[in-house]
Amino acid sequence: MKILCVIGTRPEAIKMAPIIMALKKEPWANVRVLATAQHRHMLDQVNQFFDIHPDIDLNIMRPNQTLTALTARLLFELDNVLHTEKPDVVLIQGDTTTVMTVALACFYHHIPIGHVEAGLRTWDIQSPFPEEANRVIAGKLTRWHFAPTESSRQNLLKEGIANSQIFVTGNTVIDALLITASQDLEHNISVDPTKKLVLVTSHRRENFGEPFRNICRALRTLAERNPHIQFLYPVHPNPNIKEIAYQFLDKLPNFTLCEPLDYAPFIAAMKQAYLILTDSGGVQEEAPALGKPVLVLREETERPEAVEMGVVKLVGSSYEQIVKETQHLLDDEIAYQAMAKGVSPYGDGKSAERIVAVLKQSFS
Ligand code: UD1
Ligand code: UDP
Repeated sequence: MKILCVIGTRPEAIKMAPIIMALKKEPWANVRVLATAQHRHMLDQVNQFFDIHPDIDLNIMRPNQTLTALTARLLFELDNVLHTEKPDVVLIQGDTTTVMTVALACFYHHIPIGHVEAGLRTWDIQSPFPEEANRVIAGKLTRWHFAPTESSRQNLLKEGIANSQIFVTGNTVIDALLITASQDLEHNISVDPTKKLVLVTSHRRENFGEPFRNICRALRTLAERNPHIQFLYPVHPNPNIKEIAYQFLDKLPNFTLCEPLDYAPFIAAMKQAYLILTDSGGVQEEAPALGKPVLVLREETERPEAVEMGVVKLVGSSYEQIVKETQHLLDDEIAYQAMAKGVSPYGDGKSAERIVAVLKQSFS
C-alpha cells in the first residue's frame, strides 16, 4: 500500500514524524513523504532531528505569504504530485492551509484521506482563523478520522461523521515528546538556572494587530515589575509577529528574544520553564505532560481537555488579564502548584502505533 504522508509546517512535521517512523517499520507499507514546505527553515529543522527525508519537496513558502496565494500555488502543485504518485492513501495532520488544500486535491483525485488530529473544534468558523475552517473542510473529505481524545470524537459525531470512521488514538505530539524528552537536551540560550523562567510563544493570525500589541505590552509590564524573573521568547518568523515583538520587547535586561528554537532545544526550554504563556496548539498539549502550567493567549481553545483538568487557563489577549493572571501564578505558590500536576489528557506515546494498526487492518 502506497501511503503519502504530507507535512507543511513545523507542528505537522513534529506530529507526523512518529507515524512516518512507525510506518517505515511495516513491510506492507510503501511510505512516501511530501513536504509542501509551507514553512521552510522551521520544517527542515524538525525533519533533520527525526531523520526524515522528504521524497517530494514543493518548496512553496514565500516571505509574508497570503492565504489565497499559498492556497492557489499549493493546489496547482498538488495536482501534478497526486497524478504522478497515485498514492492509495494520503495522511494529513492538523489544520493548516497545507491540510485543507491536500484534502481538496485528494477529493478531486478520488484518493482516500486519513486525518491525524481530527475533530478539534471551537464551533466558531472565524476563530481560530483560518484553522477552524481548514479542519472542518478537511473533516468533510476524510475517510479515517484519527481523533486525539473522546471529546474530539464527540465533535465529529455531532457533525454527522459515522462512528465507524472515527478512531480515538491520542495525539502523536506526545509520542514525539516522549521520544525527545528522554534524550539529553540543551537549549544553548544563556539563562540563569537559579532564576524562574517564563517561556513565551505567539503566532496566531487572529492575534495580529492590536491583540498582539496588547500581549507585548503585558509582557513588557511583567518583565519590568519582576526583575528577578527571566523571560524567554523564541519569536515566530512571521513578519506580522516578529517586527512588533522586537519593537516592544527588545533590550529589556531580563527578556531574551531569539529565533525559533529547534525542536529538541525548545523541549529543553519547556522543561526548564516555570510557567508558559502561549497561543500555540502544540505547546498547550506538550506543557501539561511536562508538568508546566500554561496561560493561553487566546479567547477560546479547541483543546478544552487540559483546561477542564485545571492545568491550562485561557487568559485571552487583554493587557490587564495577562498581567493579572501571570502575576498571580508568579506570586501564589499554592495556585501555581495546583496547575503543575504533570497530567496529560492528550496521549500516552502510543498514538502512531494505533494509527498504523487501523490502516493495516483496513487494507488487509
Ligand atoms: C502556519 C499555520 C498555522 C500554524 C503555524 C505553525 C496556516 C494558515 N497557518 O502559520 O495554523 O499554527 O503555521 O507555526 O496554515 N516563515 C519563515 N520561515 C519559516 C516559516 C515561516 O520565514 O520557516 C515566515 C514567512 O514569511 C511566511 C510566514 O512566516 O510567509 C507565514 O507562514 P505561514 O505558514 O503562512 O503562516 P504561519 O503564521 O506560520
Ligand atoms: N516549537 C519549537 N520551537 C519553538 C517553538 C515551538 O520547536 O521555538 C514546537 C513545539 O514544541 C510544538 C510545535 O513547535 O511541538 C508547535 O508549533 P507552533 O506553535 O508553531 O504551531 P501550532 O501548534 O500552534 O499549530
